[in-house]
Amino acid sequence: MTRKNLIAGNWKMNNTIGEAVVLAQEISYDFYRDWLELVDVAVCPPYVDLKPVVNVFEFDHLKVGVGAQNVYWEPKGAYTGEISIEMLREIGCEWCIVGHSERRGLFGETNEDVNKKVKALVDGGIKPIVCVGESLAVRDEGSYLEYVCAQVRAAFAGVDEAAAKSAVVAYEPIWAIGTGRTATPEQAEEVCAAVRATLAEIYADKTADAMRVLYGGSMNEGNAALLLAEPDIDGGLIGGASLKAKSFIEIVKAAM
Ligand code: PGA
Repeated sequence: MTRKNLIAGNWKMNNTIGEAVVLAQEISYDFYRDWLELVDVAVCPPYVDLKPVVNVFEFDHLKVGVGAQNVYWEPKGAYTGEISIEMLREIGCEWCIVGHSERRGLFGETNEDVNKKVKALVDGGIKPIVCVGESLAVRDEGSYLEYVCAQVRAAFAGVDEAAAKSAVVAYEPIWAIGTGRTATPEQAEEVCAAVRATLAEIYADKTADAMRVLYGGSMNEGNAALLLAEPDIDGGLIGGASLKAKSFIEIVKAAM
């Protein structure tokens, strides 16, 4: 099965509206529309930048997707500080990152929260990018495959097969995020293959085969091609290197 790679930029808490618009314009300027036949591309800016970034790509008729970095699962109500799926859809969000290790680690997001968000997103027609990944302690201790696969099982618990197809899983070892210490292609492939095998336990083989599994963690223009050459790595979730248009574009090119 040939899966189309997805390159998604996770801008994290970077870029004011002005800066976000400039970065989106720089990406758009260097982008050839035809590339999108070979690779899917998305950027995930902070909430306040979403609409301005959607506007840039719409103005340029460029089908680079835009995604949020988080969402709340309830449709509306007394949830101070939260953003609903309908709000994201209204401004043209196609994707939403869920369960990033920074949200799990710094903001106490649990596997149960991730599962509620995944369910609500697929119901609401926004494609989740479900992040999983182990800490250095778990890796050193040797139980990383069990740990990551348990996160996958929890995230997709009760998510029906047809809906799950729209989701993407991103394997992001915490020890590789923002550290410059990328997983080797072999290390990344081992876990991404195990993620796919777990999806195949939950869903039909055909579904697991069609779902994309990304790698994230210090992916850049220098190491992307080797990582993406692995059979079970279907793209990347890019943090630091997505904040420079040139680096991001080079990674997009490596994914074609
Ligand atoms: P990084 O971040 O590429 O800066 O390591 C990846 C991520 O956290 O999604």
